[in-house]
Formats: sequence, C-alpha cells, structure tokens
Amino acid sequence: MAKEKTQYTCTDCGGISAKWLGKCQSCNAWNTLIESTVDSAGPTKNRYAGMAALAPASEVAVLSDIEAQDVARTPTGQEELDRVLGGGMVEGGVVLIGGDPGIGKSTLILQAMDGLQRSGMNTLYVTGEESAAQVALRSRRLGLDQSQVQVLAETQLEKILATVDKLQPAVVVMDSIQTVYSDQLTSAPGSVAQVRECASHLTRMAKSTGTAVVLVGHVTKEGALAGPRVLEHMVDTVLYFEGDTHSTYRLVRAIKNRFGAVNEIGVFAMTEKGLKAVTNPSAIFLSQHAEPVPGSCVLVTLEGTRPMLVEIQALVDSGGPSPRRLSVGLDRDRLAMLLAVLHRHAGVACMDQDVFVNAVGGVRISEPAADLAVMLAIQSSLRGKPLPQGFIAFGEVGLAGEVRPAPRGQERLKEAAKLGFTVAVIPKANAPKKPIPGMTVHAVERVDEAISLVRSLT
Ligand code: TYD
Ligand code: MG
Repeated sequence: MAKEKTQYTCTDCGGISAKWLGKCQSCNAWNTLIESTVDSAGPTKNRYAGMAALAPASEVAVLSDIEAQDVARTPTGQEELDRVLGGGMVEGGVVLIGGDPGIGKSTLILQAMDGLQRSGMNTLYVTGEESAAQVALRSRRLGLDQSQVQVLAETQLEKILATVDKLQPAVVVMDSIQTVYSDQLTSAPGSVAQVRECASHLTRMAKSTGTAVVLVGHVTKEGALAGPRVLEHMVDTVLYFEGDTHSTYRLVRAIKNRFGAVNEIGVFAMTEKGLKAVTNPSAIFLSQHAEPVPGSCVLVTLEGTRPMLVEIQALVDSGGPSPRRLSVGLDRDRLAMLLAVLHRHAGVACMDQDVFVNAVGGVRISEPAADLAVMLAIQSSLRGKPLPQGFIAFGEVGLAGEVRPAPRGQERLKEAAKLGFTVAVIPKANAPKKPIPGMTVHAVERVDEAISLVRSLT
C-alpha cells in the first residue's frame, strides 16, 4: 500500500490545503477544512490518466436480469424497534441510532442485542464509552443476567476490525461512533474526520462481510458538527431518539430507511428495568387538565402509520418592542407564517404579543396538518377562553387562508372518537361520508370560518 499522508479538504468546495486553516483559501468559507488522507503520490492532475489499462473492466448487468432478493431480516424481539427498522436487523445493513446523551441509546441497543443473541445470532457489543464491567452492570439491571452478548471495550478502529474478523459476528454495535479513532488520522476522536473515516470503514466491512452494523451517535451540542448528521448519507437506516429526557416516554423515529418506511415511530417507556414498548401510544401526549384551559388544543397527528393525539399549547402574552415567537417541537418559521395568515385572513392580530407554542411531551411534529390546531390554540390563548371539552382539530393552512386536507382523515377521526373526543374541526375535504358515532364534525374550508366557528362554540 502506498504511504498515506494527511491533507485538509474543504467540505464546501472540495478545495485542498496542506495545513489546517481557519478559512478555506478557495471559497473563503470559515471552519470547513477537515482532515483526510491521500496516497503520498498526491491528487495530481494525471492521477487517473491511463488508469483504464490497469484493471480489466467490471461486469455490467441489465436491471431486469438481476434476481431481486428479499432481504433477510431478524427481529430483535423489541417490537417497537422492529417496527421502525421495517421488521428487524438486515444482513449487511448499517443502522445509525442518534440522540441526546442519556436518552436511552445504550439501553435499547443492549436489549436488542440480547434478543438477537437469543435468536441464535452471534453478536458483538463494542463499547468505547463505558467499561465492560459497566455494560455488565447495565445488563443485570435490565434483567439480562444470562446474556451471551460478547463485549469488547476498545476504541481503536484497527483493533476492532481485527476482532470482528476473528469472531465473525452477525451483528456489531459501536457505542459510540464518536469514541472510535483510526491510527491513520492524527485528529482527535470525535472530530468530523475521525467519525467519517471510522464509519466508512465499518460500513465497508458490513457490505463486504454481511455483518450488520449498528452505530450509536450522540447528537452534540453544536448540532451538525461531528454528530450523527455527517454519517446519514453513508448508512442504510437512520433512527433518532426523540422525547424529553425528563419524561418517561421515548420515541424512536426512522428518518431514513433503505429497508422500510420512513417516519415510522416506535414508542417506549423508560422503566427501572430498561425500555418497554408502549403498544397503544395514541394518548400519551395529552396532559391531564381537570377542566379545559385556554391555549390548549388537541391535534390528531399521523406518525408513520399510527394516528396519535398530541396536545398543542400556546401562550400569547403582551410583549416588548420586538415580540418573541418561540416554538418547542414545532417549526418556528411555520409559526410566523400561521400568525401572518391569522392576521390577514381571520383578523386575529398578535403583532404586539409574545407567542409561545409547545407540543406536549417533547414530541416533534413536522406535518403541516398541525396548522389548524396551532392556530386555534393561539386564538384560545389570546381570547383567554378554553376550547370546548373533548375538542380536536387537524388540517393544513395555506397562505391564501384556505384549509387543506390532511392525509387519512377518517383514521384520525376514528382514533379521536375511540379516545372519547366529541367535537372536531377539520378540513372540508376530510369530511366523513358517514357520521362518526359520538362525534360532531365541523368541516371548514377557510381559516376565518374555523375561527368564527370556534367563537360560536365557546
Ligand atoms: P443510556 O442508555 O445510558 O443512555 P445513552 O446511551 O443514550 O446515553 O441510559 C440513559 C438513562 O436511562 C440513564 O440516566 C439511566 C436511565 N435508565 C433507567 O431509567 N432504567 C434502566 O433500566 C436503565 C438501564 C437506564
Ligand atoms: Mg450510552
């Protein structure tokens, strides 16, 4: 192998520098240079010249002639995890599981590994953050006293790869990818260069040997930098933990999955004995008010394939000269847009008010069908009047003040009715053909219609 040397590549423009600089000399972007290795021959202009002569051409196949094989999946035994994985661990598949520190990544993965080991797979858990004894302690706490999962406390990539080569496990976990380092790079473990390099080696190993790989990644305070985000494009499946570390519930969401559906979520409760599946999660994001309170509207949202009810809270309060708009669990730009639509199309003005909105329970809601519930919560807080008891809403709102349909409206209404909700404001296009027992449905076409309807109800 040719001797490797270190250089720095700009992540924006691909410009190359021999030493690290704060600013890229080619595109003037700041902090974009990351360490990488090259053969000491260097990336010269003629690097690829005459290369065609060096190796025989590869075989090409016509798409229709290739036999399509269904991927082999092994369930982990954690049904909510299997749901987000699309059925289980896939041979040679690479899964990235990200989340805040302390949210339960190591716990869930250890439980899943034990399940796989029990179903006859050879598993290896590589820990870079904790000692083997700490992992053993956790397994006792989880009630996995007889666990046959093999544990390796190691952070050097070359040694890990050599161990994998020797043991030939069916599944390898790297907890966490930020602790691994390769001897080939001089930068510190956890840096973008190390994280990328190590993950790409592990991915290549997975593809060439058929070993499934699970990479655990912390979402760092700085957000994107050196966090799991830089790896998303390399792996087959990306799962993120959501939810508040202070609450019991944890959500695991698939945001990319080459072997299954995206946006599917798994719901767990953190207990004394690890994470337990919550199989009927539709009502966990509702807070218990004895009486209806102003500024609260229940939204029926669709998470993956399941309808869920989430309480949206709004607080509108007189603000200073530059009023604040803050959102937790909802998109802030979308909030600004909804306030503009409320003003322009329904005459509800919040210009001189601070507006805070929150999705209860730390759940993140990205679907536009939340719009109507957010608006009605804001209006309710502004008026200081609660929405009626047993009230739900969903529907997307457009800039022209129209209320657009949400996917699978019937299912949402049925789930809400099942949980005892009795009044719904929904888009006209979602109006049910047959009445839903126990539920009064108001179908609206425009925002002002929804606003005046709610005024007449309260
Ligand atoms: P952990 O899996 O270590 O989080 P991560 O790997 O994402 O950093 O666990 C996080 C928290 O969960 C920790 O504060 C302790 C708590 N916990 C329980 O409540 N019950 C349990 O059975 C276990 C193992 C952990
Ligand atoms: Mg951990």
